[in-house]
Amino acid sequence: MAFLRLSLTASSFIVAGSGCLEDKLLVCWKDMSHILGIQRLACFGGVVFAVVIIFQYFEFPYGDIISSLFSATKIHVTKTGSYPPENSSPPSKILGDITQGANSTGPSDVLVKGITTTYKGHDEGIREYNRSETKKKLNDSTDLNRNGVSRNKDISLEKVRESGSGFSRDNVTILTVPLANVSTVIEVPRKKQKGKVVSVSEMYDILVHNRASSRSMKPRWSSRPDQELEEAKLQIENAPLNEDDYNLHPSVFRNVSVFRRSYELMEKTLKVYIYKEGDKPIFNQPEAIMKGIYASEGWFMMQMKKSKRFVTKKPKEAHLFYIPYSSKILKATLSPYAHDRQSVVPYLKSYLDMISGRYSFWNRTAGSDHFLVACHDWGPEETRQIMGTCIRAICNTDIEKEDFELGKDVSLPETNVRDRQNPLRELGGKSPSKRTVFAFFAGKMHGSLRQILLRYWENKDPDMKIFGKLPQVKDDRNYVNYMKSSKFCICAKGSEVNSPRVVEAIFYECVPVIISDNFVPPFFEFLDWESFAVFIQEKDIPNLKTILLSIRNKRYLEMHQRVKQVQQHFLWHVKPVRYDIFHMILHSIWYNRVLRVNSR
Ligand SMILES: *[C@@H]1O[C@H](CO)[C@@H](O)[C@H](O)[C@H]1NC(C)=O
Ligand SMILES: *[C@@H]1O[C@H](CO)[C@@H](O)[C@H](O)[C@H]1NC(C)=O
Ligand SMILES: *[C@@H]1O[C@H](CO)[C@@H](O)[C@H](O)[C@H]1NC(C)=O
Ligand SMILES: *[C@@H]1O[C@H](CO)[C@@H](O)[C@H](O)[C@H]1NC(C)=O
Ligand SMILES: *[C@@H]1O[C@H](CO)[C@@H](O)[C@H](O)[C@H]1NC(C)=O
Ligand SMILES: *[C@@H]1O[C@H](CO)[C@@H](O)[C@H](O)[C@H]1NC(C)=O
Ligand SMILES: *[C@@H]1O[C@H](CO)[C@@H](O)[C@H](O)[C@H]1NC(C)=O
Repeated sequence: MAFLRLSLTASSFIVAGSGCLEDKLLVCWKDMSHILGIQRLACFGGVVFAVVIIFQYFEFPYGDIISSLFSATKIHVTKTGSYPPENSSPPSKILGDITQGANSTGPSDVLVKGITTTYKGHDEGIREYNRSETKKKLNDSTDLNRNGVSRNKDISLEKVRESGSGFSRDNVTILTVPLANVSTVIEVPRKKQKGKVVSVSEMYDILVHNRASSRSMKPRWSSRPDQELEEAKLQIENAPLNEDDYNLHPSVFRNVSVFRRSYELMEKTLKVYIYKEGDKPIFNQPEAIMKGIYASEGWFMMQMKKSKRFVTKKPKEAHLFYIPYSSKILKATLSPYAHDRQSVVPYLKSYLDMISGRYSFWNRTAGSDHFLVACHDWGPEETRQIMGTCIRAICNTDIEKEDFELGKDVSLPETNVRDRQNPLRELGGKSPSKRTVFAFFAGKMHGSLRQILLRYWENKDPDMKIFGKLPQVKDDRNYVNYMKSSKFCICAKGSEVNSPRVVEAIFYECVPVIISDNFVPPFFEFLDWESFAVFIQEKDIPNLKTILLSIRNKRYLEMHQRVKQVQQHFLWHVKPVRYDIFHMILHSIWYNRVLRVNSR
């Protein structure tokens, strides 16, 4: 159910009058698992179809992600009184005037399952962290709950998965925007329209500038790991020229010698301490998020926790401290209805207060040797204030939003994992001469940019296979076949700058065409993105074909070759291998830590 494949007909979002709220997932307050059978009658009596534009702020539910959650029968979470879940916006307000009458066939196989979350709160405004449900390993006497009476609410969260035949795309008018008028599309309200576009080369200048000018805070006291980082830094800065590693391809790197040196030093040196604290499944439960488009955070967490080489149980040896949370599960658990990204901050804050109260590590560097890995759209904003000093590996990397600091933060690849047992299934694609489709895009109408793309290119030109959501078929056969047999794969941003298509294109050996202003692509520190991907400014959508046609065949073949060369760095393996995506993510975090080290 990846977002690329959810049609605009996500308009098939349904809000039921009878207590069902909607938030890209349909969520019901009441336990509906028993009334699944009559759901269509009871719940969807007042079905409303909604146009997707409105859902700019929302990303969509990925059944598999949540379904793995359901194995956890009960999640206990402490919440403060300041965030009353029952006050989330009513559907009527969300949908406003975008509803349209339609054939309300309703979902024929909507899945309703539930998790139970206990929210506890008090009004004093002091965040307490109630860990009693988790297996206690540590002395809990520091735990809070000093503040007397808790207002407890038991809320069953129900998630309905949109799936399958009920949503017949062909019967739904997708966009009401008239084809002739681009301006109407551009007027779709965006969170920001300001500022200029930062090109990839300008981003690189900023990176160089930030490297020169910014250091992390001087630690309160010195440590052995700091000294080791200083030594590593010196060695990286004086990396010997070394480009003859069969396993690395210099042409996709900015400077492969520096990369090699840094990578080897990471293997030799790096130790990571992982905090054990935190309620599952939000913390320390990677199994909950191993599929779908946010799976990067689950896969990273899983492989980090299992790493014998890099993990240390002795925090005094650690160069980095990992805060092992899932931004997707956090959102799905604590704030499934709300659209206010700040709503989850108090919870994270209470976690941080607990960690920094219990251990001295956070305070030593004000968090600058701590890191987190978060792929959900909300990741940057929910961590900006309270964890802004950390190294944040995030998918949603918009350099214009000041949520992402080049040189400190890391652009985390968004990967759409379709098969958890075999993430490499279907790897690869056709050779260039057999790629018969010139350019391809398909996806749901998140954000306004894709509407513009479709209005210019859908059904306009036989070379340009530009679609909304493709009809649902098993394993996304259609979609995957297009990716495997197209020369250029258009990666147009959705509601946010990032899209799983970028990595998907590389996976299927299609040259990515990135249309997403101010997006900082993954592993930006090291990869020479312009050597294997095409960057087109959003305003140039009308010239899309002309620009792509201007790429000579020789150049195309070169880019295609490099896509294949860079591919290894974007692959999840069930057991991690050298230079794979797990190691690349960890390496970027390591590298940014090393270069910013500031020892006593
Ligand atoms: C529903 O679909 C049928 C057949 O396509 C069509 O005749 C009818 O007008 C549609 N109703 C609405 C409300 O769109
Ligand atoms: C927990 O810590 C408190 C104060 O630091 C101490 O008095 C108590 O004995 C500890 N309890 C356990 C079980 O370690
Ligand atoms: C913490 O949560 C547990 C389980 O929900 C509950 O029994 C306990 O009373 C809570 N503690 C406080 C102080 O609220
Ligand atoms: C559209 O809806 C009508 C009636 O609801 C149905 O008969 C028809 O098969 C639908 N068309 C598609 C393409 O799903
Ligand atoms: C397009 O927009 C212009 C200006 O907003 C308007 O005058 C014109 O009628 C529109 N055309 C169509 C086909 O909607
Ligand atoms: C790569 O970095 C090394 C060490 O800093 C430097 O000597 C070399 O000239 C750089 N190579 C390129 C291609 O910039
Ligand atoms: C770290 O700093 C915070 C805020 O200044 C303080 O409350 C906490 O007790 C400190 N932690 C330790 C372990 O000293």
